[in-house]
Amino acid sequence: MTNFPPDLIQLLTKATHVVALTGAGVSQESGLRTFRDAQSGLWAQYRPEDLATPRAFARDPKLVWNWYAHRRKVAKSSHPNAGHYALVEMERNIPEFTLITQNVDGLHHVAGSKHILELHGNILNVRCSQCGTFADDWHEEAGNVPRCAKCNGLLRPDVVWFEESLPREQLEAAVQAACTCQVFFSIGTSGLVQPAASLAHAARTEGAVVVEVNAEPTPLTPRVDFAFHGKSGEILPELVKAVWG
Ligand code: APR
Repeated sequence: MTNFPPDLIQLLTKATHVVALTGAGVSQESGLRTFRDAQSGLWAQYRPEDLATPRAFARDPKLVWNWYAHRRKVAKSSHPNAGHYALVEMERNIPEFTLITQNVDGLHHVAGSKHILELHGNILNVRCSQCGTFADDWHEEAGNVPRCAKCNGLLRPDVVWFEESLPREQLEAAVQAACTCQVFFSIGTSGLVQPAASLAHAARTEGAVVVEVNAEPTPLTPRVDFAFHGKSGEILPELVKAVWG
């Protein structure tokens, strides 16, 4: 059982605007590998950094498409865990709550969170790599990457790859939320990838109290006001219970 400092409980009881930034760690207890976990099975020989790039897709679209088809299948068969649901409860209790996620697994939506900013896109969505049209369904003929019904371009997952820029509106909304909130949570993220990793610093600069919930210390840890190291699926429900009963 985690002991939460009374001043943090007091702060959350009175808070009117809270932001939570989540990373792969919040989905780890749902059975989804984090980015820095080693991959498994057929994909063990690859690093995400070598597959989630425009160059990898240009070089071998079928390999990249298959990796995302595998991850889509895994994401669809996984379920939110207690950490996702605790964030739904937090949103219910706080007048203005913004959930910024780096995750593409869609589990925050499934859990019932409402105000979500998906900085890195959503693996369940597929769009044309040429004209950008979203595809609701597609034909996966053996050996070929499905093509756009509109322009015949190759379909790709609607996620942000390395070297690609984040969706501008989502990023602007995330920065705005981080700079105006009273409490900023950094949950299940190594804080290694920009620009998401800068949001906690922006929040702190604007006077927010920063809380880290992560399995292990990160580069952010020395600069947070409260750090809880352990499983988010355990710590978050305990925190919600301690504050809102
Ligand atoms: N509870 C809390 N934290 C956890 C748990 C857990 N059950 N399991 C793992 N973690 C922590 C790990 O200690 C690690 O610090 O979650 C963090 C996950 O870090 P990464 O694997 O780096 O994932 P993330 O921070 O989301 O990566 C950010 O990098 O690769 C890109 O676009 C990709 O969105 C991803 C971004």
